[in-house]
Amino acid sequence: MSATNIVWHTATVQKKERQQSNQHKSCILWFTGLSGSGKSTLANEVEKKLFELGAKTYTLDGDNVRHGLNQDLGFTDEDRVENIRRIAEVSKLFVDAGVIVLTAFISPFKQDRQVARDLVESSEFIEIYVKCSLEECERRDPKGLYEKARRGEIPHFTGISSPYEEPLNPELVIENDQLSVQQAVEQIIEYLKKEQLI
Ligand code: PPS
Repeated sequence: MSATNIVWHTATVQKKERQQSNQHKSCILWFTGLSGSGKSTLANEVEKKLFELGAKTYTLDGDNVRHGLNQDLGFTDEDRVENIRRIAEVSKLFVDAGVIVLTAFISPFKQDRQVARDLVESSEFIEIYVKCSLEECERRDPKGLYEKARRGEIPHFTGISSPYEEPLNPELVIENDQLSVQQAVEQIIEYLKKEQLI
């Protein structure tokens, strides 16, 4: 049930002042892709580069957030929707805080990514599709999860027994079975410079 009798309090220090102080815009770099596609690796390397450039950054990662904030959620469609809804709201807070937030979640449903997009201004949401074929993700299988899923030991596994809806119009597509991590990082940093976000 939603709370009633609550009134929005406007803060004196606003996003704009925080961005001015940080000397860059704040935004969400929303990495989406199959398990094993390289979302976390890429988000981590992009954050490192941004940090070196002096930007205020933070990374929210699927496995990590599921250890804390979202530890009550599993992988049914319903739980994934709630997982992404919470992450989107938290990301919005980071944007308000003047930070560049990088999110690395499978976020398999188009509708949920749209919900996240709609929470912030259009220039503040950069959807980055980390594209990697299921065959390649399964070949890499860094955590041995695909093997378990194929054996029927993990229900609702993305790409095997749960769908992944490809982004139709992402700001960036990273062909992650063709590029080196360094090349992918450069592609993202160039985009951020072109859009004058950094
Ligand atoms: S989602 O779909 O966005 O809610 O998923 P996310 O929060 O990103 O969590 C994905 C990581 O959880 C592990 N894992 C699974 N992934 C997909 N399907 C099932 N059933 C599942 N069970 C556990 C897996 O390590 C995912 O990490 P990544 O980094 O994507 O490989």
